[in-house]
Amino acid sequence: MDAIDVILAKRDGGELTDEQIDWVVGAYTKGVVAEEQMAALAMAVLLNGMTRREVAAWTEAMIRTGERMDWSALDRPTTDKHSTGGVGDKITLPLAPTVAACGAAVPQLSGRGLGHTGGTLDKLESIPGWRASLSTAEMLDVLRATGVVVCAAGSGLAPADRKLYALRDVTGTVESIPLIASSIMSKKIAEGTGALVLDVKVGSGAFMKTADDARDLATTMVGIGADHGLRTVALLTAMDRPLGRAVGNAVEVAEAVEVLAGGGPDDVVALTVRLAREMLAAAGLDGGKDPAEALRDGTAMDVWRRMITAQGGDPAAPLPAAAESHDVVAPESGVLTRLDAYGVGVAAWRLGAGRARKEDPVSAAAGVVCHAKPGNEVVAGRPLLTLYADDAGRFDRALAALDGAIEVRPEGRPILFPLVLDRISA
Ligand code: URA
Repeated sequence: MDAIDVILAKRDGGELTDEQIDWVVGAYTKGVVAEEQMAALAMAVLLNGMTRREVAAWTEAMIRTGERMDWSALDRPTTDKHSTGGVGDKITLPLAPTVAACGAAVPQLSGRGLGHTGGTLDKLESIPGWRASLSTAEMLDVLRATGVVVCAAGSGLAPADRKLYALRDVTGTVESIPLIASSIMSKKIAEGTGALVLDVKVGSGAFMKTADDARDLATTMVGIGADHGLRTVALLTAMDRPLGRAVGNAVEVAEAVEVLAGGGPDDVVALTVRLAREMLAAAGLDGGKDPAEALRDGTAMDVWRRMITAQGGDPAAPLPAAAESHDVVAPESGVLTRLDAYGVGVAAWRLGAGRARKEDPVSAAAGVVCHAKPGNEVVAGRPLLTLYADDAGRFDRALAALDGAIEVRPEGRPILFPLVLDRISA
């Protein structure tokens, strides 16, 4: 096979064969196909798309470049959730122990944040002692002992995706639905989960800004799941405003613990319960213990404490607190009609909660706490948001990110997406 023939076929709008796809993905991972050749092919895919068969073959080829995990030794069905990323999206933290408390096992390989969206591992690492890197044997031990493990994906899982994602990042080819869908699904299928629920975020703070694009991505991913025999369901959920009140790392852990204690913001609780029910149903465990009950009766909190402890963390230790804080006050009295997710996400990132490059450190204590949500009444001069940072020098740029992100009107109602916009299944 020849890389140039594959590039020309896709450049001219043709359909690649399974053999061409398998060869080009494998050869690229081994370094036989050059970076510039894969860059040209990725651009041709971005411009001309891929058919459902091509996307399934591309995903399979990426999985085949690495290991595939196997949890058949467990005595419970496995189920997992993947979010496409958002602002204040700490849902994995209350969700995974809740689902485990209802009888499923949750083997979640998670990521770190990049840009204005946070990463689950960064949030959990704000808990003193908690460790994200586990061997496969340790993962199995933690899963057996607690029913849930959330940790970093090792380099052996879909290595083609790791290499291709880095290339897409610098060649303007990230925003291709077939490439995003195959990237996410190759990792989730290689992870070996028996069922999968996708939380596809929609709005200014999300990857997908419109419901149409989000539906397209969700449908493509659900199709890949079906083609690989993985029970997959997707929810389209709102990311036009932050999820919950806390945006950052330790502040989001604190909010997740409130939810596990039976409190917390309504939207975080509602989404946790909805996603948990979907995960249990996809695993064939509907009709058992209800997730809302697991949050109420403390069993989800018990699992949380065990899972944090099993990975070296101290669930009772105080979370890191920021050295500096700054209140943003309501400019006038009335109704908060807009609190833009992207603006708040960029503010938290500039405060130190996120990173611009993969190798940058993040601050555990930095972030934003929202004292009001869109639709709430606010009073002139009272705090709307509190910004937290390790260094007061970060406040000016964070405040600049909030320019235009907040709107208070004497009266009226915000125009918001419903929390769950749609559900897509095969
Ligand atoms: N997340 C992924 O894992 N891959 C993409 O391509 C985009 C987001």
